[in-house]
Amino acid sequence: MSDRPLLVVEDLRKSFGDNEVLRGVSLSCEKAEVVCVIGPSGSGKSTLLHCINHLEAPDSGTIVVADQLIGYEPRRGHLVALKDRDTARQRRDIGMVFQRFNLFPHLTVLDNVTLAPRLARGIAKREADEIGMKMLSSVGLSNRRDSFARELSGGQQQRVAIARALAMSPKLILFDEPTSALDPELVGEVLKVMRDLAEEGMTMVVVTHELQFAREVANTVVFMDDGVVVERGRPKEVLLNPKTDRARLFIARLVGDGKEK
Ligand SMILES: Nc1ncnc2c1ncn2[C@@H]1O[C@H](COP(=O)(O)OP(=O)(O)OP(=O)(O)O)[C@@H](O)[C@H]1O
Ligand SMILES: [Mg+2]
Repeated sequence: MSDRPLLVVEDLRKSFGDNEVLRGVSLSCEKAEVVCVIGPSGSGKSTLLHCINHLEAPDSGTIVVADQLIGYEPRRGHLVALKDRDTARQRRDIGMVFQRFNLFPHLTVLDNVTLAPRLARGIAKREADEIGMKMLSSVGLSNRRDSFARELSGGQQQRVAIARALAMSPKLILFDEPTSALDPELVGEVLKVMRDLAEEGMTMVVVTHELQFAREVANTVVFMDDGVVVERGRPKEVLLNPKTDRARLFIARLVGDGKEK
């Protein structure tokens, strides 16, 4: 692998109709780095994550993960869209954890975790179960392997969703407000799992309103507003000493709302 950052996003643009949602976003994330993305609702944070794993195709700009251009291949000076099968293969290296877990409620916890490795990586059930149990124990849920996903609390379901992402051995995990659908008393257990992952060297891009988590765990904080990156830097700089009025206002409002804990 080259010494380029694990994730490099360059001049990313994306519109929905005439709504230009990303207006030239660039950012990078080194291996084992945690980048937290903050910003107001509608600023394009989720769209950015969806473009990174090609759930949405960008209009222009490039995304490179572990030296792989996502979604396209250069051919005679042009970028040509990859076949679905090839983007699916690329996507396996990029874990995604959503706000609303998206587990299969009628499957067991272990089956939720092993489904993708079995289907997408073709790993046999026995081996997949072994990997799955390892991942479940890393999120503290090996004792719930046979429960149906719907029987778990929100915090537990989100931890299963993280185990599911980990079971694919991703190079990068994208988190989209992983704790904002949870009751306040369940937020801590999910943040703890994420903190452990960061300490183990997982590369993570985390969209979050949890400023304390960002302050303590992020290497870099990126503040987005209206489809552009307005500020980026060390958490202390961006969160405690923002340079722009927009960032200052946003952070003050979050703290004021008591969303920040
Ligand atoms: N699939 C889509 N089709 C049309 N418009 C979309 C689509 N996805 C997002 N948008 C629009 O793009 C803009 C940015 O949305 P996005 O979800 O990226 O914002 P966000 O920063 O994640 O906001 P939030 O904090 O509320 O999650 C919004 O105006 C939204 O309505
Ligand atoms: Mg969003």
